Amino acid sequence: MDHQRILVVMMLMAMVLAMADKEKGGDESKRLFMLKDSKQVVKTEAGEVKVISGPKLDRDMPNMHIGFISMEPNSLFIPQYIDANLIFFVRRGEVKMGWIYKDEYVEKKLKMGDVNFIPAGSAFYMVNTGIGQRLQIICSIDASQTIGSSSYHPFYIAGGINPSSVLFGFDMGTLTTALNATAEEIGKVMTSRTDGAIVFIDGKEAEPPAKFMKRKLKEMSGRRDGDVDVEDGEEIDDGGVWTWRKMLSSLLKTRKGKAKGPVRAPDSYNLYDSAPDFKNKYGWSLALDENEYEPLKHSDFGVYLVNLTGGTMLAPHVNPRATEFGVVLGGEGRVQVVFPNGTMAMNEEVSEGDVFWVPRYFPFCHIASRSGPMEFFGFTTAARRNWPQFLAGARSLLKTMMGPELAAGFGVNQTRLRRMVEAQKEELFLPTWPVKEEFMSA
Ligand SMILES: *[C@@H]1O[C@H](CO)[C@@H](O)[C@H](O)[C@H]1NC(C)=O
Ligand SMILES: *[C@@H]1O[C@H](CO)[C@@H](O)[C@H](O)[C@H]1NC(C)=O
Ligand SMILES: *[C@@H]1O[C@H](CO)[C@@H](O)[C@H](O)[C@H]1NC(C)=O
Ligand SMILES: *[C@@H]1O[C@H](CO)[C@@H](O)[C@H](O)[C@H]1NC(C)=O
Repeated sequence: MDHQRILVVMMLMAMVLAMADKEKGGDESKRLFMLKDSKQVVKTEAGEVKVISGPKLDRDMPNMHIGFISMEPNSLFIPQYIDANLIFFVRRGEVKMGWIYKDEYVEKKLKMGDVNFIPAGSAFYMVNTGIGQRLQIICSIDASQTIGSSSYHPFYIAGGINPSSVLFGFDMGTLTTALNATAEEIGKVMTSRTDGAIVFIDGKEAEPPAKFMKRKLKEMSGRRDGDVDVEDGEEIDDGGVWTWRKMLSSLLKTRKGKAKGPVRAPDSYNLYDSAPDFKNKYGWSLALDENEYEPLKHSDFGVYLVNLTGGTMLAPHVNPRATEFGVVLGGEGRVQVVFPNGTMAMNEEVSEGDVFWVPRYFPFCHIASRSGPMEFFGFTTAARRNWPQFLAGARSLLKTMMGPELAAGFGVNQTRLRRMVEAQKEELFLPTWPVKEEFMSA
C-alpha cells in the first residue's frame, strides 16, 4: 500500500468518515439506532401521551422509554404514580407539577427548559398553566424498577370509569369501611370520571387539582361539612395498608397549613438558563449530571442539550460509560454511528421529533445541515460525569495518546501521524470542511 492509501485508511478510522453525506443505502440496518415506533398511550380531547420504547438488545440495556406529553391549555393530567423513574423536560409552555417528595407534598411551577425528576412510585399530577398555550413535555421513563414485565404501569390515584382509580380495585365492603361512606356515595365517585387521564379543568371544573382531590376525598368520606381535616386523615392510615389514603392526605397537606410551607424539595433545573459546559462559534453543549442536579443521583440518568450551528459537526466521540438517547428538538442534520469493527452502523438524516440512541462504547457524531442550527436533547444512562472521549479535534484521544506507539499502531511515522491528528485546531464543535470533494476522492 502506498502512503496515500494508508493516509486515507487512517483518516477513515480516526475521523469516522464524517463527511460522507451521499450515503443512501436505504437498507433497514442503516436505521439501526433510530427509534421510530411510537405508541399512543393516552389520548383525550385535552391531550395525549406518546411513548417510544428503547431497544431491548440485551439484558444489560436499560429498560428505557421516552414519553412525549402534550396538553391543551387548562388541562390536568390526573394524579397517578408510575413504577418507573421519570425525568421531565419542559419543551414548551408552562406547567404546575405537584408530587410527593419523600413524605411531603410539593408543588412547583415549571417553565420551558426546566428539568424535574420524579422517582418511581411517587404520586404526581400536572396542570397546564400556560395561558392559551399548549404544553409539551419530553420525559424519560426508566422502567428498570418496574414490576414483572418489561413495560411500566401507571397507577391512577384519582379516576373513575376511565381511567380507573386504583382505589376502586378494592371491593365495596372494604371501601365502605375504609372510607367510612355508603356504597351509594362511593358509587357516585367511582363512575363520575369517564374522560380519560388528561382532562380539562376549565368551566365547571375550574378548580386546582389539590382542591379537586380534596373534594373527591370529601365526597368519598361522605362529609358535607366544611373542609376535610387532613391531619385527621393521617391517623387513619397507620399500618401502611391504605397507602393511597396517605397519598391523598399528603397531596392535600400543604394546602391546609400554609405554615408548613412548600417542602424543601430540590429545585428543578433549567437547561436554557445555565451556562454551557462548552461553547465555541460552532456550537455549545450542556450536560446535566448529579453534581448540578442532585435528584439525578437517584435516577442513574443524565440529561444533555446540544446546539450545533448550521453545517458544523460535533466531533466523533465515544461514551465510555453511558448509552445515549437523543431527541431532535429543532433543525435537521445527520447522526452517524460506527460498529466496533470499524464499519458504518448508521448514517441517518434526522429532523425535529426524531429519536435516536447510541450504545455505550460506539463511536458517533452529529452533523447539522447547512440550512440552520440543529438542536438536540437527550438522556444518558449515567448520572455521573460521562467523560466522552473525542476521536478528532484539539482535545482528541489521538492527540492525547500521540507517541511512537500510536504511530506504530497506524503503521506510519510520528511526523506523518502528527500532521493528521493536529490539523484540526478546533475542539468538540468543528467547522464545515470546505473542500469536501477532494476528501471524498482521495
Ligand atoms: C364515620 O362518619 C360518621 C359521620 O358520617 C362519624 O360520626 C364517624 O365518627 C365516622 N367514623 C370514623 C371511624 O371516622
Ligand atoms: C442555537 O443556536 C442558534 C445560533 O447558532 C440560535 O439562533 C438558537 O437560538 C440557539 N438555540 C437555543 C435553544 O439556544
Ligand atoms: C461489522 O459488525 C457488524 C455488526 O456486528 C456486522 O453486521 C458487519 O457485517 C461487520 N462488518 C465487517 C466488515 O466485519
Ligand atoms: C515520515 O514518513 C514520510 C513518508 O511516509 C517521510 O517522507 C518522512 O521523511 C518520514 N519522517 C521521518 C522523520 O522519518
